[in-house]
Amino acid sequence: MSQHQSGILTEHSRFAIWLEAAVHGDLQQVRQGVNEFYQQLTTLQQRYPDAGLGAVVAFGNALWRDLAPTGSAPELKDFQPLGNNIAPATQRDLLIHIQSQRHDVNFSLAQAALAAFGAALRVEEETHGFRWTEDRDLSGFVDGTENPQGEMRQQVAVIANGVDAGGSYIFTQRWEHNLSQLNRLPLSQQEQMIGRTRQSNEELPGDARPDTSHLSRVDLKENGQGLKILRHSLPYGTASGTNGLYFIAYCATLHNIEQQLLSMFGERDGKYDAMLRFTKPVSGAWWFAPSVATLLAL
Ligand code: HEM
Ligand code: MG
Repeated sequence: MSQHQSGILTEHSRFAIWLEAAVHGDLQQVRQGVNEFYQQLTTLQQRYPDAGLGAVVAFGNALWRDLAPTGSAPELKDFQPLGNNIAPATQRDLLIHIQSQRHDVNFSLAQAALAAFGAALRVEEETHGFRWTEDRDLSGFVDGTENPQGEMRQQVAVIANGVDAGGSYIFTQRWEHNLSQLNRLPLSQQEQMIGRTRQSNEELPGDARPDTSHLSRVDLKENGQGLKILRHSLPYGTASGTNGLYFIAYCATLHNIEQQLLSMFGERDGKYDAMLRFTKPVSGAWWFAPSVATLLAL
């Protein structure tokens, strides 16, 4: 069995760090960096067993085509802007997703990543996420409720067979909220926008929410089957300045995430997600996270 990377199925992590980087230098430096990073991860996991430390190294399309085994990740591509650039594309080469119960341990691993890759890596975006009270997004709505549970998590997120067994497709998108704009809207309108109640987190019945509500946009079926994805998003930012949600989803097929995005950004039926009234995406990229064995054999 091909083992998936340790950050993919982690649950209830309280903190995350995301590094999105451009890669320069030769591929040999990247391979060395990956192996050294992985050793540091193992060391920190052993030193802080209580932290539940997990990490994922993932690749953008351009770099993966240079490194990958033949036939790997057929769905992987550069992210292209959606909805007349309302969802911009900021495709980069390398994503490192670190998550655990401890920000201090995460930070140590982020530093180890920089040391491991050295000059081969230029970090273009670094985001520090935290779990807010009651698993709420900064909008006040509970986020993650309908995430797959138990064994479903692996079935949804991890490729089961073939050359990519143990691998996973990833989508990242950093959103910036405008909370004063949100708070000007009456609660009932906020709830219609999401499709759930805010305090008690109950789903509004399908006929009680507009088809532009977030839930109606992303709760999609294809041939009677729900298009499931595994989300590890967390709030980030400062109270007085920029803040929002760093959205990240894992899936055994890029297709499921893409269909939801097309639906949110007007590319399926011309309708946009009502959440865009108070928040906007400022980044967007597709990634592929190979199994541990593939990662260490690049
Ligand atoms: C559900 C918030 C972006 C996919 C939800 C829920 C909230 C939420 C509050 C309901 C609770 C839950 O089941 O987790 C947000 C916010 C976003 C965002 C604040 C950005 C600012 C996205 C994006 C996607 C997405 C970009 C897909 C690409 C989903 C899915 C569900 C969901 C699949 C579960 C739907 C269901 O089956 O009921 N989101 N979301 N979300 N969201 Fe998002
Ligand atoms: Mg549902």
